[in-house]
Amino acid sequence: MIDDIKKHLEKVAQFEAATAEEVENFRISYLGRKGILNDFFTAFREVPKDQKKQYGQQVNALKQAAEEKWNEQKEKLAASEETAGVYGDLSRPGEPYHVGSRHPISLVTNKIIDIFSRIGFNVSEGPEIEDDWHNFTALNLPEYHPARDMQDTFFVQKDPDVLLRTHTSSVQVRYMENNKPPIRTISPGRVYRNEAISARSHCFFHQVEGLYVDKGVSFADLKQTLQFFTTEMFGKSKIRLRPSYFPFTEPSAEVDVYWGLETETDYKMTKGTGWLEIMGCGMVDPNVLKNCNIDPEEYSGFAFGMGIDRIALLLHQIPDIRMLSENDVRFLDQFKNAF
Ligand code: DAH
Repeated sequence: MIDDIKKHLEKVAQFEAATAEEVENFRISYLGRKGILNDFFTAFREVPKDQKKQYGQQVNALKQAAEEKWNEQKEKLAASEETAGVYGDLSRPGEPYHVGSRHPISLVTNKIIDIFSRIGFNVSEGPEIEDDWHNFTALNLPEYHPARDMQDTFFVQKDPDVLLRTHTSSVQVRYMENNKPPIRTISPGRVYRNEAISARSHCFFHQVEGLYVDKGVSFADLKQTLQFFTTEMFGKSKIRLRPSYFPFTEPSAEVDVYWGLETETDYKMTKGTGWLEIMGCGMVDPNVLKNCNIDPEEYSGFAFGMGIDRIALLLHQIPDIRMLSENDVRFLDQFKNAF
């Protein structure tokens, strides 16, 4: 019997609980009504007289040890719960942060801004809700000009006309009205056209407008600037300018970059020609300068405008323009490591 008690004393001394349940089980098995101690106390009657004293002492020692152990374990567990409440389980591995990514439109816009800022262009912005003057009339597109039909306009209000700008060329006008030459500015922003939405076109998209006005600006300056841009942007320096028409420039041109025909993707992107159309440009029409209170006898300038979405689709091989505005994180997450 005494040996039994000694064994239990050792067991109690070694007991360590990891959970509240284990502490409670310990209490029930030693101190409970049908517990081990109770059995030892009940057995007291059968202990021979000469051993009663020693037995009693041992049982009391076991009882005390069990009670102390129980209290100690209860406190230990409560303390660890407290720290867990403040700091969590300090031994657990950390949760990785969800790192966001820039939108492909922002990536391309930032790259364009970066390239032009290196040759002295600043960034300007204008409102997306425009009046007729800034979006059309000042840009040499008077009322009833047929070229207005080229841009299916969303009107907010008629008479006086308020509309969603159909191009960022409106910012040219605002910038020239408020600044004196020399002017070197690019204007990125969102534009709107009432077009059917498909994989290739959307009713809103993004453009960057460029404007350079100073004394003696020539077409050669325009060409050189564009070549610098395509080299920095795409790593391609071969460009060609095709004669074109825009009401706000004269002469006007469409800019193509020679992309090459090395891979199957090159074939697909350029429809087998090797050339990619990337923007419109030209010398600012004297009428536009006049409309903005700049003397065309003294100053000349060039302007250009390009679609950002199209460039983003091309650079990242995105098959559908709608993906750019759906905000699906599975799509957006893929741009974490893009330039
Ligand atoms: N505004 C034109 C468009 O939306 C693009 C453009 C062409 C802008 C020629 C220009 C330019 O500044 O000179 O299609």
